[in-house]
Formats: sequence, C-alpha cells, structure tokens
Amino acid sequence: KSSLSSAAAQNRVLFGTAFCTSDLLSQPLTRAILYNCSVVTPEYELKWDAICREHGLPEYSAADELVSFASRNALAVHGHTLWWHESIPAFLQAGTVDQFRDAALNHLKTTVTRYAGQVHSWDVVNEPLEPADGRTDGLRLTPFLAAFGPDYIATAFHQASLLDPKAILVLNEMGLEYASPAAERKRRQMLALLEREKAKGSPISCLGIQSHLTALEQPRDHPELRAFLREIRAMGLSVMITEMDVSDHLCPRDRRRRDAIVAETYRSYLDLVFEEAEVIAVSTWGLTDDRTWLNGFRPRPDGARQRPLLFDRAVRRKPAWHAVQDAL
Ligand code: XIL
Repeated sequence: KSSLSSAAAQNRVLFGTAFCTSDLLSQPLTRAILYNCSVVTPEYELKWDAICREHGLPEYSAADELVSFASRNALAVHGHTLWWHESIPAFLQAGTVDQFRDAALNHLKTTVTRYAGQVHSWDVVNEPLEPADGRTDGLRLTPFLAAFGPDYIATAFHQASLLDPKAILVLNEMGLEYASPAAERKRRQMLALLEREKAKGSPISCLGIQSHLTALEQPRDHPELRAFLREIRAMGLSVMITEMDVSDHLCPRDRRRRDAIVAETYRSYLDLVFEEAEVIAVSTWGLTDDRTWLNGFRPRPDGARQRPLLFDRAVRRKPAWHAVQDAL
C-alpha cells in the first residue's frame, strides 16, 4: 500500500478529491492529486451557475480544462452536479416556470452530451430531500419540484442515461450520515424515495453520501446508519462517499489533539461504511486544509483555521491521511 488510490484499488474502489482550476497552479498540490487520486470532482466548474454565469451562451471552458486535465492523466471524472437547487443561475430566478423547465432540461442535455464518454459518474440530482420543508415524501421545495412535479428525479435520470448510457448515475445527498432524529427521518425518506424511483424504472445505480462530518458529533458506531446502508445494498445500489471532510469546530485548539480526533473520525466512519455498503468510490472535499470550504461554512469559535482534510497547507500528510489509507 502506498498512495491512497492504489490502496483503494486493491478493493476495486476509486479514491479522489474535489478540486478547482486554480489548484492546478500549485505544483505540489497537483502532484499530490496525481499521486493519490484515481477520480476527481470539479468543485465548482460543472455547476449550472458556473457554466451559465450570465444570460446567453453557456461557458464550458473551465469545466473543459478540468476534464481534459483528468483525461490526460487517466483520472476518472465525477460530474458534480446537474440539478441542484443551490446552483441555479441567477437570471432564471425571475423567469416563468415554463422557462425554468426548458432551461433545466436544456442544461442537463447539453452538459451530459458534451462530456459523454469522459465522465465516469454524474451527481444527477443533488440534495433532493429536506424533511423540514414539511412534505410527507420529504422532497425539498425547489424550482425543479415546482416545474416538473415529484417526477423530476425520474426525468433527470432518464434523460442522463439516454445521453450517456455508460455513466454511473448518482443521487447525491447530505445529512444521511448524521446521528440526529432529523437524519433518521431523512434516511427513511431516502429509502422510500429510492423504492418509488425503482418502481418507476429510474436508472439510479448509486447513492452518493456527501459525508461532511463533524468530529466529536459523529458517533463511532452508528446502528441506524448501518441498518440504512444494509437496506441500500439490499436494493442493489452501490454507494459513493462523495464529499468527505471532518469539521473540527468542536475540537480543542491544540493541533495534535485536533488532528488525532479528525483522523479517528475518518477511520471509524470509513470502516463502518465499508462494512455495510458496496462502496465504489471515496472522495474528499479538497485535499489540503487551506482549500477547505469549512472556514466559511463552519468557522471555529476560537478563530483558528479548520484542519478537516488529509494534507496540511504545505501538502504534508496528516494523521487523517494515514487513517484513510488504513481504512481503504
Ligand atoms: C460548495 C463549495 O465547496 C463552496 O466553495 C461553494 O461556495 C458552495 O458549494 N455540498 C455540495 C457541494 O454538494 O457542491 C458544496 O460545495 C458543499 C456542500
């Protein structure tokens, strides 16, 4: 076992990270990506609002650059993401429902067609559930739901599979992995959703579990999550860990202790998921601590910078790197 991708390959699993075009300006970071990864996820460049910044023609040049970097280097691409309520272009927020429906379908078709054969897997729909929105089926109230009705998920997966029959089509979700009562409700709603989609013949083959964990909050063992993953496996679905990081905002400031707690959280979580699910890929949301989104999303109360990833800012391996290598 040496690199993370070769450790993962022994179990026929891909290992990778999210990254963005500017990361390629750093040689040490690029080397770490190439050495450790067999799959990469564009952090922004494939999102709808990144492609359609203004009215008018979509702009694919940044996404193209990442996809061609990946293919030059024989890295699989995880396409993130086609339909997500958080990445709807601003100019569409004012339009009519009909305009939205046409634009959403058009975006999906154009994007999947452009990268057909180059993308290993697509997050076709991202974060469809929000129990707090109050629907019994748990579907989040989004423009997609408003425009297509509850069949929007089936529509998206059917279209994607027609245009790129070889890509693995993923339904990606956050918060399925937590220990709260809300998370348990979401897990039940996800199982019911996947059963309904199966009955409709939707070509969903994989559940993406984002896995933005919080150290000291994520339980070491988690029977409800185990039971959920067993049901996912029984339905014939594979699992991808799509966006893993471990927020340390509840941890003490001392770096050694923080790093040890974060590493242990990676380890126990991955062990559990590998025991219960048909895991095909594990990706972290960034490789080095200075590139994390968590300083904005979950700032530490003491103002210290988050250390949620596998490498420090100097691209040195942290205890979490070794924990992940052991778990893979
Ligand atoms: C985040 C990026 O990391 C941020 O930089 C951006 O501002 C917002 O999106 N779940 C997802 C990702 O599916 O797309 C999000 O990425 C993090 C949460």
